[in-house]
Amino acid sequence: MNSRILILALVSAALSSSVFSQTPVVPDPLPPPDPTSAAASTHPEASVAELAEAGPGDAAAGASKAAACGACHGMDGNSSDPQYPKIGGQHERYIARQLALFKSGTRANAVMLGFSAALSDQDMRDIGAHFAAQKATPGTADESVIEGEYSPYKGERIVDVGRSIYQGGVKSKGVPACMACHGPSGGGNPGPSFPALAGQHAGYTVATLQLYQAVAQGDPRAEEDANYSIMVDIAKRLSEEEILAVSSYIEGLHARTAAAAAASQP
Ligand code: HEC
Ligand code: HEC
Repeated sequence: MNSRILILALVSAALSSSVFSQTPVVPDPLPPPDPTSAAASTHPEASVAELAEAGPGDAAAGASKAAACGACHGMDGNSSDPQYPKIGGQHERYIARQLALFKSGTRANAVMLGFSAALSDQDMRDIGAHFAAQKATPGTADESVIEGEYSPYKGERIVDVGRSIYQGGVKSKGVPACMACHGPSGGGNPGPSFPALAGQHAGYTVATLQLYQAVAQGDPRAEEDANYSIMVDIAKRLSEEEILAVSSYIEGLHARTAAAAAASQP
């Protein structure tokens, strides 16, 4: 995100009384941030379950199947327009899982419903392998100083607030460190659950965290999809200003792990 927009957004967040009029809530206990087991859930959506039966993704086959994706996501998965997420260097099985969720309508997005509808499970894994073999290009974090008069972070640099949240969470609100699951350098974890975040457009990350925040209590997906509910629970504890700061920090994070681009897993 362009720093001027980010500053304007922070100023408007600081001026918006709703940010300050919220009654503090006692957070529910979070699931333990154990990337090996926490979100390795079984999923009710048959379409996702079937992915496991497809063979490991074949990057070469995926390259030709991914021709239509480049228009928005970039040929190497590095979109230039922040409304389209970067998917270069993302984990194969995370990509395949999201495609299955779009196809079944569980992850609601009209554009991606259209682009996933015709894909078979094997196509999803092949395309996933193709983009996993690319590298995400990092952007830059915003180093400007937060000036909002009422901001608890007044006088701190946006990048420093973001780093502190990413690496240490927000203890007073029970927000866990993002790096516990997404890795110290934003490489995530291979497998379907923990996406790589490094280099992602701040604009997309902000929008995604706001989508998680907007999920109503009792939403069936939040009840049934353990991965999704982790992020719903975390996002609702973040202020608008914290979302902007951590998203900016993530955009500047370099190096998705080599593991992200590693060969397909069964
Ligand atoms: C017309 C533009 C467009 C095209 C073409 C397109 N996408 Fe997308 N894609 C989007 C948008 C917009 C989103 C964000 C959806 C959201 O916010 O939930 C998205 C999201 C995704 C995501 C989720 C990323 C994440 O980090 O969660 C994946 C994976 C993806 N697209 C893969 C593909 C693949 C594979 C193709 C080609 C078969 C494709 N897309 C074609 C616009 C497009
Ligand atoms: C306990 C593990 C855990 C922690 C801690 C965690 N996340 Fe996540 N995160 C996940 C999982 C699992 C997903 C995949 C959710 C899904 O499938 O809908 C995810 C998805 C995301 C996404 C969507 C990525 C995409 O490409 O669409 C963003 C953005 C994100 N997390 C940001 C954060 C931030 C910022 C923090 C710290 C404030 C954080 N996460 C802390 C587990 C975690």
